[in-house]
Amino acid sequence: MYELIEKAEIFNVHKMVIKAPEIAHSIQAGQFVIIMGNEYSERIPITVSDWNTDTGAITLYVLELGISTLELARMKVGDSLYVVTGPLGIPSEIKKYGTVALGGGCYGIGGIYPIAKACKEAGNKVISIIEARYSFMFYHEKELHAVSDQVLYATSDGSKGKKGKVEDVIREMLEKGVKIDQAFFIGCTQMLERCSEATRPYAIPTKVALNSIMLDGTGMCGACRVSVGGETKFACVDGPEFDGHKVDWKELNRRRSAYTEQESVIYQSYSHECMAEKKLRGEL
Ligand SMILES: Cc1cc2nc3c(=O)[nH]c(=O)nc-3n(C[C@H](O)[C@H](O)[C@H](O)COP(=O)(O)OP(=O)(O)OC[C@H]3O[C@@H](n4cnc5c(N)ncnc54)[C@H](O)[C@@H]3O)c2cc1C
Ligand code: FES
Repeated sequence: MYELIEKAEIFNVHKMVIKAPEIAHSIQAGQFVIIMGNEYSERIPITVSDWNTDTGAITLYVLELGISTLELARMKVGDSLYVVTGPLGIPSEIKKYGTVALGGGCYGIGGIYPIAKACKEAGNKVISIIEARYSFMFYHEKELHAVSDQVLYATSDGSKGKKGKVEDVIREMLEKGVKIDQAFFIGCTQMLERCSEATRPYAIPTKVALNSIMLDGTGMCGACRVSVGGETKFACVDGPEFDGHKVDWKELNRRRSAYTEQESVIYQSYSHECMAEKKLRGEL
């Protein structure tokens, strides 16, 4: 069983530290796991943000969105996850590029950390750029600072760093003549697309970690099919990182929203159940 040994809530993102020694010993930057909270849960892919081979623990940051992430958010220290499968996906290509810019939003703030760390260890200059709606939504900052030459911020309300998004910071840097040799982005699909558009005119090699819908995570079911440069790829086994300038974003968005109606119906009924439980316990 995969025991939850530490948990913290940063607004709508939940830090979950889970005992998974085999994964902690074999995971590499850019890889993910597929988890199930309980035996009836959906299988969902989550990036591994950090790991410790001494304690056998892995750290995940889960953004609460729908029913599966809500179930995870409700777990308590001492509970166990039913399934943690991995490491999955191809690790990030880490080498000496020169200057590497990494951009992360929502769960991607945690997601870029292991890549930043590995790039720093490979001798690169690392610039990490993170975005959130408000300054209190940032997390994992101390760790990110420790592996970055520079950490730049973007907030929607301007409460920290630049008022705007990661791509605004990137554009400003490029307009000022900062040379970026490689970019990595992790976060929501819109952010990945916008950041790729920002680096395109400068022909900066750009890797984006795609968040297509996944089921088995082994290349068998086809759920995560994406088109990259006109070729069919499966994000779970050929990715999750792809060239952001070649991704068919329209198709990806269409496929990601295939179950929106069902997801919203089930989420509403589940959150009503949670409210009813709370009322019974006298918490409301
Ligand atoms: C390789 C990879 C790494 C990821 N890493 C993280 C991470 O570190 N932290 C994090 O919070 N999220 C991560 N995600 C996204 C996460 O898997 C989805 O947010 C989650 O599955 C949503 O489930 P839900 O039931 O709570 O929400 P739902 O209401 O079911 O869906 C909300 C959104 O998530 C998408 N989604 C639903 N089911 C899946 C699925 N099985 N696979 C992928 N997307 C799905 C839907 O398209 C929808 O847009 C990652 C996705 C991929 C593919
Ligand atoms: S998740 Fe089934 S093929 Fe990728």
